[in-house]
Amino acid sequence: MKQQCRMALAVAGAFPTLARRNTRYPRRRLPVASKMKAVVVTGPGVLRLREVEDPPAITAGEVLIRVAATALNRGEVPTEGTYSPPEGSSPYPGLECSGTVLDVGRSVDRWKVGDQVCALLNGGGYAEKVVVPAMQVLPIPQGVSLREAASFPEVACTVWSTVFMTSHLSAGETFLIHGGSSGIGTFAIQIAKYHGIRVLATAGSVEKLSTCKHLGADICINYKTEDFVARVREETGGKGADVILDYIGGPYLQRNLDSLNIDGRLFIIGCMGGITSEVNLSSLLARRLTVQAARLRHRSPESKAAGGGAACLASYRSRQGETCDPRVSSLVRSIGGSQADGEWRKYWKDTAN
Ligand SMILES: NC(=O)c1ccc[n+]([C@@H]2O[C@H](COP(=O)([O-])OP(=O)(O)OC[C@H]3O[C@@H](n4cnc5c(N)ncnc54)[C@H](OP(=O)(O)O)[C@@H]3O)[C@@H](O)[C@H]2O)c1
Repeated sequence: MKQQCRMALAVAGAFPTLARRNTRYPRRRLPVASKMKAVVVTGPGVLRLREVEDPPAITAGEVLIRVAATALNRGEVPTEGTYSPPEGSSPYPGLECSGTVLDVGRSVDRWKVGDQVCALLNGGGYAEKVVVPAMQVLPIPQGVSLREAASFPEVACTVWSTVFMTSHLSAGETFLIHGGSSGIGTFAIQIAKYHGIRVLATAGSVEKLSTCKHLGADICINYKTEDFVARVREETGGKGADVILDYIGGPYLQRNLDSLNIDGRLFIIGCMGGITSEVNLSSLLARRLTVQAARLRHRSPESKAAGGGAACLASYRSRQGETCDPRVSSLVRSIGGSQADGEWRKYWKDTAN
């Protein structure tokens, strides 16, 4: 699948220090103490390449991966403050990766040493090696390179588990995705189109709107120059969208409700614009609207596996479709070490509003 706004970082034999320690990492090391490289968040907005201890020894149900590539995700590193992974997670950033299986724990029969895979991580992708629950490991789609595969798990699992598994977006319905040129948006447009859904996408520039169009969006709306509520109503004969995927949050809540059809479903996965809002509840009552929200990172491995597995199947099937293209983007490049810091900062600066 094409993901125009994401970067896959090739880990060229280099890469994560303990920004902070947690209860799991210091105790169980690989039997022979060895070091690896990792990208470490050393302060607000600062990444450094450091030599650090290897990951903990794998236990039953886990897989050790030698990381080939990882991807940048807006959700994983705050623009202010230091990196604060959930308790028990790797201390290094990196919510997804691709690479080669180095070792498998007891009871893992789906993967073997040498397999090339991609994986949804709890962190740790910005390192040479990472331990991950086997159920969060995914096969690489045919025709997709090892590097490209690093940018697949997070968006696929997020989009599939929210709008498809939970909001039941179905063929023939209308879907509004905000920020259609984002990592999430580029995947959402393609997978929705493949499933026979009419897609409306918002973006903030002519270039980004053209990306959405190229990926298959039926209607592209410039949220900076147009009122998206009015446009959605106009394009749907006054009815509104059946499902909306939103990560702007507070400032968009009422406007999203106003853009939904009867029995419409709004799924919120982020709050880039703010976390509070006042809403008129009569819009929910009158049109039987549903509002849901979820954060992938805090889900259990079983829940991630369910979303990831289903997303995987859905996406791999969609690769038979004509509209799909496995390129990541011209942003993909081989970077490592100090270069990663510059690229990372540029990414956040370029995409910040
Ligand atoms: N809940 C979860 O499990 C989960 C998982 C993954 C991601 N997320 C969230 O999803 C969001 C997107 O992540 P990403 O990695 O795909 O981000 P990304 O690639 O960095 O793209 C973010 C895009 O948002 C767009 N944007 C900003 N304000 C907008 C607005 N008012 N209306 C429409 N678009 C707007 C910007 O494009 P323009 O220039 O067009 O404004 C920007 O390119 C983040 O908030 C992230 O935290 C949540």
